[in-house]
Amino acid sequence: MERRRHEHEARLMAIYSGLRRMLFALEAETSHDFALAALAGASRSRIATALLAKCNRRRDLPRKVMGINFPNPVGLAAGLDKRARACNALHALGFGWVELGAVTPLPQPGNPKPRIFRLPEQHALINRMGFNSGGLASFVRNLARAAPGIIKGVNIGKNAATAMDDAHADYAACMEAVHMHADYISVNISSPNTQGLRDLQEEGALAPLLAALNRKRGELAEASGRRVPLVLKIAPDLGGGALDALAGVARKHRIDGIAATNTTLSRDGVGHALAGEVGGLSGAPLGARATETVARLSRNLQGEIPIIGVGGIDSAEDALEKFEAGAELVQIYTGFIYRGPRLIGEIIERLRARQARPAEKNVHSANPKARCA
Ligand SMILES: Cc1cc2nc3c(=O)[nH]c(=O)nc-3n(C[C@H](O)[C@H](O)[C@H](O)COP(=O)(O)O)c2cc1C
Repeated sequence: MERRRHEHEARLMAIYSGLRRMLFALEAETSHDFALAALAGASRSRIATALLAKCNRRRDLPRKVMGINFPNPVGLAAGLDKRARACNALHALGFGWVELGAVTPLPQPGNPKPRIFRLPEQHALINRMGFNSGGLASFVRNLARAAPGIIKGVNIGKNAATAMDDAHADYAACMEAVHMHADYISVNISSPNTQGLRDLQEEGALAPLLAALNRKRGELAEASGRRVPLVLKIAPDLGGGALDALAGVARKHRIDGIAATNTTLSRDGVGHALAGEVGGLSGAPLGARATETVARLSRNLQGEIPIIGVGGIDSAEDALEKFEAGAELVQIYTGFIYRGPRLIGEIIERLRARQARPAEKNVHSANPKARCA
């Protein structure tokens, strides 16, 4: 049985390697659209998702975080499936959960193309998508079609045309539309590609935004009997003082989780011809910066608010660093593009092996609750 599973997995990996060569020969966004269309197609077929899931049976490593029972602690980060079309297939690839979106209230095209650039030598990407979104109506229709039982986070944003002073209304509209179908809602205030968005991370702007969203959440909980956890998605480019201030506001407003981090504007250590492209950098060169953000948050929050570690995870060791810094869950995006679904399995196997050796010293963790790894 085990041998057959390994053979099946090896076959899938061989198919992925071939697919990857083909996809990487295409322009970055074209290959993204092509792969996502294939996954969306597979999502509509029970046979296809069952075939994909067949090689992922040992991807269970349950974690309860924010009151949610995650089947394993490795999630897909936001931005890959912005229209919630490929949820079933992405889940079947082994992710413990998928974060869908960002969705904005109204459809908008995002920035002109080209807007994603590969830096393959560094296992990195630069993107300036600018919240390309099909809008809430079609997003919610797709979301409602996802197979039951899949844990889904929904990443929400604001339309570019909405004035910053009215941003809270866009987030509230998104919250209201998706809350029935979402296991948690991630408030994206950290995309570098929407003008002014990151200013919402400042204490003076964040406090009224979270107060408004908590009011909306209260109303929705009263009407539906369901309180949906709220996660803040933050940037890796905040100074230490700003990060501590943000943690204080999040604590005061009883935010349920913090996802650290989004892409970076920094190009430190990225010697690449495309490094000058405008946008957010993701992938391996972001790793250390994102881990430092997790570690500082963790020291500040002392386990009071769980942290989702995201940014530059390209190997099982990278994921362990996030857990050791204080994360309770991790997410991947760029590592998944370069390494494929095998990265999910590698992380889970490494966590399992580590769990089997409880004496292994967790030297960095500042979060008493983050000993799960
Ligand atoms: C093309 C692209 C689009 C993204 N879109 C979003 C988004 O809509 N919302 C969001 O919160 N993060 C978005 N992200 C950021 C990722 O969710 C993740 O935080 C970041 O890429 C760091 O993780 P990684 O190094 O594993 O890619 C996007 C990233 C990429 C590469």
